[in-house]
Amino acid sequence: MNHTHKEVLASEVTHSNLSHYEQAVERFSWKEIESHFTWYDTGKVNMAYEAIDRHVAEGLGDKTALLYSDSSREEAVTFAQMKEQSDKFGNVLRKYGIGKGDRVFIFMPRSPELYVSLLGTLKVGAVVGPLFEAFMETAVKDRLEDSGAVALITTPALLPRVKREELPLLKHLILVGEDIPEGEGLLNYQKEMEQASTDLQIEWLDREDGMIMHYTSGSTGKPKGVYHVQNAMIQHYYTGKVVLDLREDDVYWCTADPGWVTGTSYGIFAPWLNGVTNVIRGGRFSPQDWYNTLAKNKVTVWYSAPTAFRMLMGAGSDMISEYDLSHLRHVLSVGEPLNPEVVRWGHKAYGQRIHDTWWMTETGGQLICNYPGMAIKPGSMGRPIPGVKAAILDDQGREVPPNTMGNLAIQTPWPSMMRQIWNNPAKYEEYFRIPGWYISGDSAYMDEEGYFWFQGRIDDVINSSGERIGPFEVESKLVEHPAVAEAGVIGKPDVTRGEIIKAFISLREGYEPSQELKDDIYRFVKEGLSAHAAPREIEFKDKLPKTRSGKIMRRVLKAWELDLPTGDLSTIED
Ligand code: WT7
Repeated sequence: MNHTHKEVLASEVTHSNLSHYEQAVERFSWKEIESHFTWYDTGKVNMAYEAIDRHVAEGLGDKTALLYSDSSREEAVTFAQMKEQSDKFGNVLRKYGIGKGDRVFIFMPRSPELYVSLLGTLKVGAVVGPLFEAFMETAVKDRLEDSGAVALITTPALLPRVKREELPLLKHLILVGEDIPEGEGLLNYQKEMEQASTDLQIEWLDREDGMIMHYTSGSTGKPKGVYHVQNAMIQHYYTGKVVLDLREDDVYWCTADPGWVTGTSYGIFAPWLNGVTNVIRGGRFSPQDWYNTLAKNKVTVWYSAPTAFRMLMGAGSDMISEYDLSHLRHVLSVGEPLNPEVVRWGHKAYGQRIHDTWWMTETGGQLICNYPGMAIKPGSMGRPIPGVKAAILDDQGREVPPNTMGNLAIQTPWPSMMRQIWNNPAKYEEYFRIPGWYISGDSAYMDEEGYFWFQGRIDDVINSSGERIGPFEVESKLVEHPAVAEAGVIGKPDVTRGEIIKAFISLREGYEPSQELKDDIYRFVKEGLSAHAAPREIEFKDKLPKTRSGKIMRRVLKAWELDLPTGDLSTIED
């Protein structure tokens, strides 16, 4: 296979000194990284201690840990305050008998309380599960049910989306905000915090004890609970240093919500393990608001996603001159392919080359990256970080020659590798079906210089605005609508969002296609599942292409949509 965009344009090389990378690989040892942690000697560990308390013990208590703002609130929290607050929250959980190994979920918009409760949960050794605030009833229920969560931290506004009567294990709801309703199992965050002691014995854990669960979508079945352990901190700390390039005086902003793995691994753990001031901006995206956040906080390192950069590009370069972005030193991206045009635009607009990074919920941390000291080839995800080996394998597990597309695979293990798919060992094993390798499900190729180039998902998972959406989850919701007989969902390429969701629908008897019906179905998914999972395009069909075993052939739908050959139809139903 011939690829045309693999040359490095001289003007696009930030650091032409490739040997910097080779030297880093040569020198590399995970053991040496581990020696940074207090547990190197004791063997006992707690992420919240390493991220917060440790800096206080080392005299950095007065340093700002969190710079929070949204449209109605602005707050700076020091490391000492963060320690005290999370100690209190740990005591709140203990009071209700919650501790090591329990699953505690958080379902609320970004706020200082979200970060305090996440850290407090970790301090008592519970496993935290952050949920994106846009999830609706079914999505919330599926995740709480599968994880067997015993407690949920949420807000009065989101409470109606929690189907408590269907969740017998969910005993405690801790409510953050004003006008807290009273009732069995309902706790008032503020009142509980006022009464809680600041004196907390941290739960010391083993490196392989649980830390965090993130639910992510697959192409079939319900969302998967990707389970990470304490040991992941080695990778968070290290990539924070060498990929995010964090230094003591940095002001760092990761734009992701903690409901997604980027918002925890790199919105909480990496910056705080490195003792850096962390900017959190609540609320929705707007170009003015984002530029203002960068300028006002004098952000030096900024981690965002292609969809955001594309929207900023769409908003134009003119407005940028109204903001002082002179403090920016390093800009990074993750979530979906970063278009070369965006890299070039970023260079012109911000004087910064956007560094693409590749990883997944399952990998827990960055693996293939562009980072300082490396030549950047726009459009490439970069090269594996020191300590990690990546390869392109054929379906039998053999490495293929350069510039050949195949399965993007990572040699096992690495510190932040997931340790379980909750309740689903068979799913977990699938990732490791080729001995010695983790199979990512992405297809890519590697060029002669060891740079990786993303090609697409091997299965049908849709990536819309950087969020992964399983077609199955959307289809399941669609067929709950009274008019829908069958539904097949695909990702349709879209300039701004990467992909949008397009649904092909066959209607039940007695229903006729109409625009009102499309609108109603869209709303139904939006309100029942989440806005990002709702189909922006709907097409009615008399019949959907299916296999004899009844599986909808999304690949055929996609071929129709994109005017491509439909490929092998041997398994299709009449
Ligand atoms: C999938 C993982 C890890 C945080 C965000 C997404 C796609 C991710 C890139 C990139 C091309 C990318 C892949 C991957 N993806 N980064 N730099 N270039 N594609 O996490 O929801 O687990 O999704 O996102 O397809 O497998 P996620």
